[in-house]
Amino acid sequence: MKKKIVIANWKLNPETPREAKELFSKIKASVKNLRQTVVVVAPPAVFLNLLDVGKSRLLALAGQDGFTENVGAYTGQVGMSSLKYSGATYVILGHSERRSAGDTNEIINQKVKLAFKTGLSVVLCVGESIRDAHGEYLEIIKDQVKSALSRVDKKDFKKIMIAYEPVWAIGKDAKTADTPDNFLHNALFIKKILSQMVEKKVAFSIPILYGGSVDSSNVVGFLSQGEADGVLVGRSSLSSDEFKKILQVSDQIK
Ligand code: PGA
Repeated sequence: MKKKIVIANWKLNPETPREAKELFSKIKASVKNLRQTVVVVAPPAVFLNLLDVGKSRLLALAGQDGFTENVGAYTGQVGMSSLKYSGATYVILGHSERRSAGDTNEIINQKVKLAFKTGLSVVLCVGESIRDAHGEYLEIIKDQVKSALSRVDKKDFKKIMIAYEPVWAIGKDAKTADTPDNFLHNALFIKKILSQMVEKKVAFSIPILYGGSVDSSNVVGFLSQGEADGVLVGRSSLSSDEFKKILQVSDQIK
């Protein structure tokens, strides 16, 4: 049975180390009751070192982004190796909030390659800003996947997961999440693109997650009907109770 993956993207929350430790310890307690769900928490980078995943094989930490270089004169940046030595085993790359802050497909590709070189696994976020009726948005997704993974070593495809996150479904201003059926359609499309880049067997084993306004009531649809390998959760990961419910739902999916 393939384990589901639930990623908590805390974004720029919470404000204090004390709150970060509190939230994390509640999540850690919820993880103790799980059997088949891997939980990856992405806190602000400054808090990574404070959060101890312990011995659990179902809990890990991620960076929310990393820079294209590991050392040098780059004021304010966070290196992939710093993330790794601070406890992260994953890094989220290509999140729409980083893309809108200036990350191009080329920059994301450099980051992906450096992350692998550094020994991190990658959560690559892709997704269109607008869903047009003619399917042009599919070209955008295709371009994002192909360029981010361009010239990536074939063996590293085993350390990728893709979070399909339509930008219009992300955040508190989003009117709605996507539907499980649309997700499934787009996930199959992404698998097809991947199978043009690596062997089919490898391509089809890459987890495809859904992200964008996931909560405890809609998560079941994405994981069952939508056949998502997991979900990437923003706002709903900041409430330990709501997040616990999401984890419980995930763990019960057959
Ligand atoms: P949201 O964020 O769950 O708050 O919509 C998801 C994301 O940005 O990854």
